[in-house]
Amino acid sequence: MESNDLYLVYHGLFLPKLAHSENSLNYFEKFVVQDDDVFIVSYPKSGTTWMQEIIPLLLNGGDLTPVQTIPNWDRVPWLEETRAAVVMDKLSSPRAIVSHMPYHLMPSTFFSSKAKVVYIARNPKDVVVSSFHFHRMASFLDDPGTFEEFINKFQTGQVLFGKWTDHMKSWKNPDLGDRILYITYEELVQDLRGGIKRILCFLGRKLSEDALDRVTEHCQFKNMKHNKMSNYSLVPQEIMDSNKSSFLRKGIAGDWKNHFSPELEAKFIATINEEMKGSGIRFSWDE
Ligand code: A3P
Repeated sequence: MESNDLYLVYHGLFLPKLAHSENSLNYFEKFVVQDDDVFIVSYPKSGTTWMQEIIPLLLNGGDLTPVQTIPNWDRVPWLEETRAAVVMDKLSSPRAIVSHMPYHLMPSTFFSSKAKVVYIARNPKDVVVSSFHFHRMASFLDDPGTFEEFINKFQTGQVLFGKWTDHMKSWKNPDLGDRILYITYEELVQDLRGGIKRILCFLGRKLSEDALDRVTEHCQFKNMKHNKMSNYSLVPQEIMDSNKSSFLRKGIAGDWKNHFSPELEAKFIATINEEMKGSGIRFSWDE
């Protein structure tokens, strides 16, 4: 794998040049993590934007102002991206920070800190579908080709942040102990209020029932889709073309059924199962 016009290669992972640079990765590596930082970690297209909406609301007592006035990339910056250095000083503690990096590449101060991590995972079949449509609309990503061709790239790690299976396994690290909460996209689709309560409890925070209702309502797909601060409509059309696909596209679990043939699905799952063998990670998405 080599860097090209669109991507730079960092420890064998493709990162889009639009948002990553040598400087941003330097900043990432030297970043001083604080004990009260809260990290949202995800493989791309697993519900990151959703978490960038939920977590700040839980950390600030349910005040909607920040999510209605600050774009998600500045509200909860990606630590590896160029914006991090610009906005980090403006964040008040506890800071919510997001990363797509695998565990072993986190900055050294992360490992000695007590910072908490909310890891959101999603059915890989829906991740690949969401990613496929993202590649169709984002001019800073390569053309996905056919869905079958894109699956091949996905399963060989020729996509942003490498293989889904490697990412999942890297963050299932026993060293993290109770610093990490694993939550799934599907769980949130099924019971958003319940999922939010689980995160709230993990963060050791409380919200009144009214505030919890307000946050849950605000974070529903139909409402978030219209939040200009989170739906990427602030990004110029030539970078993200909403005529081709929306960033907040369908917001459902199971859209893979509209994209995979039975043969393609069987092959996809066989590879995933083989690579996840012995990881102790069980999937409940298709049950
Ligand atoms: P789809 O393309 O399947 O619609 P990420 O933020 O990690 O890039 O993930 C984007 C995916 O999360 C998109 O999936 C997007 O629609 C979905 N998403 C974002 N906010 C959501 C919400 N409030 N409810 C359900 N899905 C949401």
